Amino acid sequence: MTKAPVPLNERPRSGPYSGLNANSARRFLTKQFEQAGLEDCEVEALDLVMAATGLSRTELITQGTEFVSPEAFDVLQDYSTRRLSGEPVDHILGWRDFFGRRFAVNSDVLSPRQETEEVLAKGLEMIAEIAAPKVLDLGTGSGAIIVTILCEHENAIGTATDISNKALSIAGENARGHCVANRLSLLKSDWFSHVSGRYDLIISNPPYIDSRAMGLLPNEVAKFDPALALHGGEDGLDPYRLIAARAQDYLVPNGALVLEIGFDQGNAVTALLTKNRWREVQLFHDIFGQHRIMAARSPS
Ligand SMILES: C[S@@+](CC[C@H](N)C(=O)[O-])C[C@H]1O[C@@H](n2cnc3c(N)ncnc32)[C@H](O)[C@@H]1O
Repeated sequence: MTKAPVPLNERPRSGPYSGLNANSARRFLTKQFEQAGLEDCEVEALDLVMAATGLSRTELITQGTEFVSPEAFDVLQDYSTRRLSGEPVDHILGWRDFFGRRFAVNSDVLSPRQETEEVLAKGLEMIAEIAAPKVLDLGTGSGAIIVTILCEHENAIGTATDISNKALSIAGENARGHCVANRLSLLKSDWFSHVSGRYDLIISNPPYIDSRAMGLLPNEVAKFDPALALHGGEDGLDPYRLIAARAQDYLVPNGALVLEIGFDQGNAVTALLTKNRWREVQLFHDIFGQHRIMAARSPS
């Protein structure tokens, strides 16, 4: 059995006495995280050490054997305690990379997930031929979807809604950070309640976890992600029911709808769209082979 590493808060704090340089700090955190049963331990340890020491990946190679400063040591100690108590690494760092760009995140928003990159890619594909598409992102959270669309399609015009003011504030920060705020309207809205106009694409990753699964969420999600971003009602389908029934009123003729769905919701969401006369209803796999992406065209 491997011996548990000595926790950082039981080590001497300063310089050489801490016995830590950036490389050994990285190995140390990795081991601690592995022993705590966390995933992606090496990547998380690397990100946390880079953030605490201010060293880039390259500098870690050239300066990784220099001792960690007392200040960086304190920061690392704080990061390690928080991560081991279940706080997601994105919240500790304050950012998450999404589709090659860095987005500010905090406990008010869901950190954008890898599968959402594929939803976004499908949305981009559906507006690729339109010179200046109008795009509506429902439940924008960090704004990762709409901000990326505006970055990737330089003539696109976006509207992003959320029911959470705090989420809208982060989305605004990300839009400014990526220089697209001049093409984005942020709207506090309960789904379509304050939306007007017609769009070429409506895209959404709504909350889709059902009530039973909400009670079984891992601590890391249950404690640190906003419930508002997760719970989709008793059967997890409430937002899809509403979107399937109403989105067509906000689309141009032949407008596109792209939705992220839970891995087991493909049949149910297909049925909702078909019942509401959507055309070209299609279900796509993500890279893990799960049905996570739905696309459709507005009813004629
Ligand atoms: C699953 S998160 C998605 C966040 C972001 N779009 C993403 O993909 O990372 C769902 C978002 O829907 C928002 N939301 C929940 N209920 C809503 C409602 N009634 N109207 C508008 N937005 C809502 C939540 O605040 C949250 O930001």
